[in-house]
Amino acid sequence: MSDIIVMANQKGGVGKTTTTFNLGVALADIGQRVLLVDLDPQASLTLYAVYEPDDLQTTMYQCLLRDIAPKEALLTTEHGPDLLPANLDLSLVEFHLMNAVARERRVTRILNHVRQDYDFVLLDSQPSLGLLTLNALAASDRVIIPVACEYLSLRGTAALLKLIHKVKGQLNSALTIAGILPTLFDSRTVHGRFILERLSQEFPNIHIYPHTINRSIRFAESAAERRPIFEQKIQVPGALAYRELARDLVKAADAHIGP
Ligand SMILES: Nc1ncnc2c1ncn2[C@@H]1O[C@H](COP(=O)(O)OP(=O)(O)OP(=O)(O)O)[C@@H](O)[C@H]1O
Ligand SMILES: [Mg+2]
Repeated sequence: MSDIIVMANQKGGVGKTTTTFNLGVALADIGQRVLLVDLDPQASLTLYAVYEPDDLQTTMYQCLLRDIAPKEALLTTEHGPDLLPANLDLSLVEFHLMNAVARERRVTRILNHVRQDYDFVLLDSQPSLGLLTLNALAASDRVIIPVACEYLSLRGTAALLKLIHKVKGQLNSALTIAGILPTLFDSRTVHGRFILERLSQEFPNIHIYPHTINRSIRFAESAAERRPIFEQKIQVPGALAYRELARDLVKAADAHIGP
C-alpha cells in the first residue's frame, strides 16, 4: 500500500512545491512508483511537470466537484512520476463545497481509487489552512513541513502544528508528522544557523531532517526551465539532500512494512 505524504505549510514560498517535485523525481529515480497530486490553484507543480494548467480540461477540480474518476485526470510526466494536475479552477472548490457533506474527505475518496498503483503519493498543498489543506491532511499518512530558515517562517510553524493536532483528533488519527525539513538555508549567515538551532529547541518532539536544503539560485533556474534540480550542470548540496531524503523515506516505508 502506498505512503501518502503531504508537504504542508501555510507560509508561502518555503519550498513546498520544489520539495514535492524534486522528491518525487528522486523517488522515481530509485525505482519507486510515484504519484504527484497538485492541490494548489497556483498549479506550480503542474507547471513543473511541464503541463499548461489552463489547457487542461480534466483536473483535480473535476475530480473533487464533479465526481470524475481520478484516472481520467491522470497524466504521465517525462520525469518519472505521474501527476494529478490542477489549475486556477481549484480556487472555487472551497466556495462550492462550503455546505457539502464530508467536504473534508473529498481528496481521501479520490486517492482511494488510485493509491494501490503507487509506492508514494506526494501532495503539494497551498499556502493556507483552508479546506484544501484540511483535505490534504485528512488524506495523508504523514506530513513533511518545509520550513524556510528565517524568523517569520519559524513563527508560523506553531499554528500549523495546532491544525495537524486537530486533524489527528477529528479526521485522521493515523496522521503523523514525518518531520520538519529546513529549506532555503544559507550556511554563510548567522541568522540561518540561528534558526536551524531554534527549530530543534522549539520543537523538541518533532524530527528535524538532517538533510537541510541549502539556498541556491539553481533552484530558481531549474524551476524556470521546469526541470528537476538533478539535471543542473553544477550539482548543488540541496539536490543531494533531496536524494538522501528520498532514500530515507524508502527505508522508513520498508521498515514499516517489515521483511
Ligand atoms: N533551496 C532553494 N534555494 C533557492 N531558491 C529556492 C529553493 N527552494 C525553492 N526555491 C525557490 O523559492 C521559490 C518558492 O519555492 P516553492 O514554490 O517551492 O515554495 P512554495 O512553498 O511551494 O510556495 P507557495 O506557498 O507559493 O506554494 C521558487 O521560486 C523556488 O524556485
Ligand atoms: Mg507551492
